[in-house]
Amino acid sequence: MSKEEIDYILKVAEKLEPYARGVQGDLLSGKLFAMLFYEPSTRTRLSFETATKRLGGDVIGFSSPESSSFSKGESLADTIRVVSGYADAIILRHPKEGAALFASQYSTVPLINAGDGAGHHPTQTLLDLYTLHKESTLEGVKIALVGDLKYGRTVHSLVYALSLYNAKIFLVSPPELSMPSHVVSDILERGATVHETTSIEDVIEEVDAIYMTRIQKERFPDPSEYQRVVGSYRLTQELLKMAKPTTIVMHPLPRVDEIDPAVDNMPNAKYFQQSFYGVPVRMAVLCILMGVFD
Ligand code: NCD
Repeated sequence: MSKEEIDYILKVAEKLEPYARGVQGDLLSGKLFAMLFYEPSTRTRLSFETATKRLGGDVIGFSSPESSSFSKGESLADTIRVVSGYADAIILRHPKEGAALFASQYSTVPLINAGDGAGHHPTQTLLDLYTLHKESTLEGVKIALVGDLKYGRTVHSLVYALSLYNAKIFLVSPPELSMPSHVVSDILERGATVHETTSIEDVIEEVDAIYMTRIQKERFPDPSEYQRVVGSYRLTQELLKMAKPTTIVMHPLPRVDEIDPAVDNMPNAKYFQQSFYGVPVRMAVLCILMGVFD
C-alpha cells in the first residue's frame, strides 16, 4: 500500500471511532463477510466481527479448521471458490505463509489477509500505525520492535509500513530470532533507518515507542529451540523507568510473559487501547473495500 492509501484509511478510522465506541451505524448494512480462521484468534476475529455488526453488516464463518470441511480433506482453493459465492468479502487467517495470496487467486470477492503463518498481518499494522498516530507520533517515530522478529508476522508487516513514515527502527531480538534478512534489505532499500541489537537497555532511552512481541512458540520446528529463547525479554516497571515519560508501550497481544502485568497500570501502557483501535481501523478497511464512500 502507498502512504496515501494508508493515511486515507487512518483518516476514515478516525471518523468511524464513535461507531466503534457503541453508536449503531448502517454503513455496512446488507453486507456479509466470511471469516475463515484456520488458526486461533481472539482480537482479529472479534474486532472484525464487532466492526461489521456495529455498522449493520453480518458475518458467517468458522473459527477453527476442525469445524470446517478442511477436516474432510477439502482444499483451500475449493473452500475459497465456494465461499466467494456466499459473501461480499473473505477474511482469512491461515497457518501457511503465502496462503492469503494463494487464496486471493481463487476468490471473486475481496480477500483480507488476517495473518498467514509467519508471513504478514496487514490489518494489525494498520491499527498499530493508528495507535502511533493517536497516542504518540507516526511520522519520524523512533520505535523499538522487541522479541520474536523472525516468526512474528505483525512486525514483518509493520516495518514495511514504518519505512514509509521516516521511522527510525530499532530491531531488538536474540540472534536466533532476528528479522529475516530479506525483510531488512527490502526496508533499507525503501529508505528506512534500521539498527539491530540484542538488548532493550541499549535503545530504551531513545525511543518513542516500544513494541513488544510474543515468542511464537507454535512456529518453532523444534521445541528445544523455543526453550533456548523463551523469556528472552521482559518489560518491567523498573526497566521502563529508563524510558522517556512519554514513551508508549505497544503489543499486538496476546502477551505471555514479555510484559510484567505491573506495567499495565502505568500511563505508558497502550496495548489495550491499541487492541480497541482494531475496531475503527477494521471498520475503515471494510467500508473502503465495499465502496461505501465512493
Ligand atoms: C498476533 C498474530 O496473530 O500474529 N495477534 C494478533 O492478531 N493481535 C500476534 C501473536 O499471536 O503473537
